[in-house]
Amino acid sequence: CGIVGYIGHRDAYPVIIKGLQRLEYRGYDSAGVALYDGADINLSKTKGKVEDLNNKAKTEISLKGKLGIGHTRWATHGIPNDVNSHPHYSNSGNLVIIHNGIIENYDSIKKELIKRGYTFSSDTDTEVLINLIEEVKKQEDVKLGKAVQIALNQVVGAYAIVVFDKNKPDELVVAKLGSPLAIGVGEEEFFIASDASPFIEFTNNAIYLEDEEMAIIRVGKEIKLRKIKNDAVAYPKIQELQMNIEEIEKGGYDHFMLKEIYEQPRAILDTYRGRLRASQGIIKMAGVDQNIEKFLNANRIIIVACGTSWHAGLVAEYIFEDLARIPVEVEYASEFRYRNPVITDKDIVIAISQSGETADTLAAIKLAKEKGAFVFGVCNVVGSSIARETNAGAYTHAGPEIGVASTKAFTTQITVLTLLALKLAKEKGVFSESRFHEYLAELENIPAKVERALQTNVLVETIAEVYKDSTNCLYLGRGYNFPVALEGALKLKEISYIHAEGYPAAEMKHGPIALIDEHMPVVVIATNRGHYDKVVSNIQEIKSRKGKIIAVVTEGDETVRDLADHVIEVPDTFESLMPLLTTIPLQLLSYHIAVMRGCNVDQPRNLAKSVTVE
Ligand code: G6P
Repeated sequence: CGIVGYIGHRDAYPVIIKGLQRLEYRGYDSAGVALYDGADINLSKTKGKVEDLNNKAKTEISLKGKLGIGHTRWATHGIPNDVNSHPHYSNSGNLVIIHNGIIENYDSIKKELIKRGYTFSSDTDTEVLINLIEEVKKQEDVKLGKAVQIALNQVVGAYAIVVFDKNKPDELVVAKLGSPLAIGVGEEEFFIASDASPFIEFTNNAIYLEDEEMAIIRVGKEIKLRKIKNDAVAYPKIQELQMNIEEIEKGGYDHFMLKEIYEQPRAILDTYRGRLRASQGIIKMAGVDQNIEKFLNANRIIIVACGTSWHAGLVAEYIFEDLARIPVEVEYASEFRYRNPVITDKDIVIAISQSGETADTLAAIKLAKEKGAFVFGVCNVVGSSIARETNAGAYTHAGPEIGVASTKAFTTQITVLTLLALKLAKEKGVFSESRFHEYLAELENIPAKVERALQTNVLVETIAEVYKDSTNCLYLGRGYNFPVALEGALKLKEISYIHAEGYPAAEMKHGPIALIDEHMPVVVIATNRGHYDKVVSNIQEIKSRKGKIIAVVTEGDETVRDLADHVIEVPDTFESLMPLLTTIPLQLLSYHIAVMRGCNVDQPRNLAKSVTVE
C-alpha cells in the first residue's frame, strides 16, 4: 500500500492525489482520501485506481483543507471494495487513519472492542487499530500521540500509519514498524509518504523514520521522534534527497516499463560509476573493500530474495561459482526464514531487493544476522529498510523503477553481483591479471551491446503480434540462460496473464514436453557459448513435436535460424555476461504482448511493486 499525508499552508487535496498517483505502484486495488478544513472532515474512497478516486471525490466532497491523508491499497484483510478502502474513521468519527501493513492480532483486539460496544463497518485490521486507539484515548484520558503509542504496544504486526484527530486540526501523528515512512520537511509544511516521490517537487529534505519510531507533527514546531516502546526521544536526521522529478515521470514513453527497459544501458553505466575502473584494472566497491576479509574467508554465500530479485540471485549463483569459485545457495526469502536454516558466522548472506522493503527479505536478513552471518545488501532504493538493516552493501543505482514488472533493477542487480564476483575472483587469485583485464574491458562494452539488443524491438513487436493470443508459453535456457528463461516467463505471466513457465532446457523432456503441440510457443535462449549443441538438440525435440520456436541467438547464428520459426539476435559476449543481453528481447516480448492484449502494463492486476507484508 502507499500512504500520503500533508499538513501546512497549501490545499492538501492536489498534493495527496498526485502523491498517490506516484505511489500507485505500491498497490492499486482501491484508494481514498480524507481532508480536514478545521470544521468538517471530508472523506471519499473507492475501489479502483487513484484516477477513479479523483473523479469520485471531485463530485462527492468538498476539497477544502490544509490537512489531508490519502491511501492507495493492496488488499490484505478484506476484499478490495469501497468500504475496506482507507482512510478509516473511529466509531466516534473523530479519529481518522491510513495504514500500510498488517495487524496480526487484530482478531482478539476486535473481539474485545466489540464487547465494549464498538462496531465495525469494514473487514479490515486497520479499522480495529483506529478503534483501539480511540478506546485507549478514552480509557487513559491521554492525547492522541500517547494513545497511538499505547495502542501500538498492544499490536503485533507491521505498520506505517498516519492518524489525525478532529479536535486537533494542526496535528498529524505518524508511526512506523516494518513498513516505510518518510517525512518531507518544507517551510511551515510537512509531507508524509511511503517514499519521497510524492513530495520531491516541494522539498529535498526528508526524514526516514526507523522501525519503532513515531512522531507528532505540528506546523511551526520542530519534529521530535519518539520510540514507541519506551518514550526515548530521538532528534531526526534530515537527509538531502538526490532524486529529481524527471526520473519519476514517463518522459515521452507510453509506459514506465518501456521507459525503464530503454534506460538499461544508462542504468548499467550508473551501476559501474565510480566502481569499474578498467584502465586502472580495478573494481572499487566500498562495502566490499571494508569487509574484504569476511568475503575471502567465507565458506559459502547464501542469497536471499523474492521475485525477479531471486532470479538475479540465480544468475549470481552461476557467476560466483564459475568465476570466484565460492559455493552459493539461492533461497526464496520466505522459505529461508521459516525453515530453521543452518547458518554460521562463516557464511555471507547477500540480500537482493529492488525496493529494499520486501517484508520476507527483511525478515530473512534479521534471522541471518541473529545467527551470526555477515549480511550484504544489493538494493536499488537508497536509504530503504534493507539497505539500513544489512551490515554492508552496494546500491544498484538504476534510478526509480515505477513499472511493477522489474526490468532495469534486474539487469543492474546482475551487474553489481558480477562486479562483486570479479573482484573476489581477483582477490582470491582465481583470476589471472590478464583474464581480469579482459573481463573489465568486456564489461565496458556491455552498455553499447544492451543498446544493440534493444534494436530488436521492431522485430520483437512483430513476433508479439503472432503469439499475443496464446494461452501458454514455455521458456527454455541452459546454464547462465536458465534463470533468464525463468525471468522471461515471469515477465510474460505477470503483465499479460498468459500462463508461462521457465525450465532448464534439458528438463523439458521430464514433463513440459507433454504440453508441446502446434499451438505452443517455446522461447529458447540459444546463444552460441556454453551448451550450444545441447540446446540445439532441445530445439530439434520441440520441432519434431510441432512446437513454435522463438529463439534468442548470437548475432550471425545460422544453425538455429534453419530450425526456428523466429530468430532474435543479440550481440556476442562472454557467457557469464550473456544474461544482460538475452533478457532484453524477452522483456520487450512480454511488454508488446501485454500492450496488444490491452493489459495495464505498469500496474498488472493483483500485484504490487513493493510487498511489505509477508
Ligand atoms: C514484487 C514485485 C516484483 C519484485 C518482488 C521482489 O513481487 O512485483 O517485481 O521482483 O516483489 O521485490 P524487491 O523489491 O525485493 O526486489
